[in-house]
Amino acid sequence: MKISVAKEKATRLLNCGMVVLVSCAYKDKQNVTTCAWHQPLSKAPAAVAVALAKKHFSSELIRKSEEFIINIPDWFLLDKVVQCGSLSGWDADKFKATGLTPAKPKKLIKSPVIKEGIGSVECSLIDLKEVGDHFLFLGEVIYAEADSDCFVNDIWDTTKVDLIFHLGAKFFFKSSPYSEFKR
Ligand SMILES: Cc1cc2nc3c(=O)[nH]c(=O)nc-3n(C[C@H](O)[C@H](O)[C@H](O)COP(=O)(O)O)c2cc1C
Repeated sequence: MKISVAKEKATRLLNCGMVVLVSCAYKDKQNVTTCAWHQPLSKAPAAVAVALAKKHFSSELIRKSEEFIINIPDWFLLDKVVQCGSLSGWDADKFKATGLTPAKPKKLIKSPVIKEGIGSVECSLIDLKEVGDHFLFLGEVIYAEADSDCFVNDIWDTTKVDLIFHLGAKFFFKSSPYSEFKR
């Protein structure tokens, strides 16, 4: 038996994506928000996209600063990840609220990198598309880094690190140890 799924919930059939923290800043304001709707787009040049609701404070800052950083949290940060996805920068300083540390990025000049993250992708905005109630921010990757302990031979070593995945609402799961496919 198949059950019908409401159209507005159809994304949950597709997106059990890895949860990231998008950080950004403009003038004296900085912010960090939780994002599960992100997407690799191109290898050369390296480009990615994040979909953020138009009403989000992060959307306002990214539109003005034209840059953002995608930070990768591990399972130990789940509590802070949920906080960053519940509070809005319109009302709260999420760095103060969560204790996450904004640090200087390698290449960008405005957005802070999250020190506690296990990796980060610094992006310069190349385009913005309006899709319903969201903006799709397209970014060219300017710089990327990851903890050498858990990103080995260009892949996440999920025997050593638990990445966070989101099913929707309050439901999450962690990555499991990888297995290498051999014929
Ligand atoms: C696990 C999780 C994933 C989320 N993913 C997204 C997302 O992909 N896009 C989005 O617009 N909001 C997403 N949100 C909601 C925002 O993070 C949330 O509304 C946040 O308060 C917006 O903050 P801001 O106004 O400071 O930007 C997510 C929240 C959680 C908890």
